[in-house]
Amino acid sequence: MDSKKIELKRRILVATSNPGKLRDFAGAALRHGVEVAGIPDFSFLPTVAEDGRTFEANARKKAEAYSRYVPGEILIADDSGLEIDALDGAPGVHSARYAAPDLHGKEPHEADTNTDDEANNARVLRELNGVPFPERTGRFVCVLAAARDGKILATFRGSAEGIILDAPCGNNGFGYDPLFYFPQIKKTFAELTAEEKSKYSHRGAAFEKFLDWYEGSSRF
Ligand code: IMP
Repeated sequence: MDSKKIELKRRILVATSNPGKLRDFAGAALRHGVEVAGIPDFSFLPTVAEDGRTFEANARKKAEAYSRYVPGEILIADDSGLEIDALDGAPGVHSARYAAPDLHGKEPHEADTNTDDEANNARVLRELNGVPFPERTGRFVCVLAAARDGKILATFRGSAEGIILDAPCGNNGFGYDPLFYFPQIKKTFAELTAEEKSKYSHRGAAFEKFLDWYEGSSRF
């Protein structure tokens, strides 16, 4: 029998229902022969409030809480967002709710639901109106936390530096991807294939660090 057929693929569970994030993780996982999957029935689990002041605080909180639902398994959770220098680091940890003032009349930290990508992008464009390109620098940041049975095992950080455009460009990806121009390959993140995005993105970078740690560890 072909030994490859009976080889068990190692599986990492991810606490997300965001197909864009899962796609980013899957691209990097493929290169390492690891499988990633969402937590079964994730959308039925109680949500964890992302009220931390840093990406790391939120990633830890999610990983700790969700790992309790999958006993014995390694679970990763990420928190991520876009930091724009001309906006003093905003939207930052509030990236997913940046348009809350426009849609719900609430500040992002008071909002209890995410706002849609189009509205978030529209707010970024409005806030940056008139800011010249050399000053439209920013970065995507991702912090990944790995946990098992409610205990954090390690955290990993990845980032990607770019320029915020004055109009969307590209149809792939999610969130702020169409506005994020990545000079290294002269494309926005919304113009990348899933594999390219996992290679260049903040999430891909954090996940590669996680995979190095995971593979180098004899505990698993
Ligand atoms: P969270 O990590 O689920 O709390 O949400 C992060 C938010 O940041 C997303 O809703 C997006 O708006 C934005 N974001 C994070 N990563 C990316 C990315 O890879 N592309 C585009 N937007 C992103």
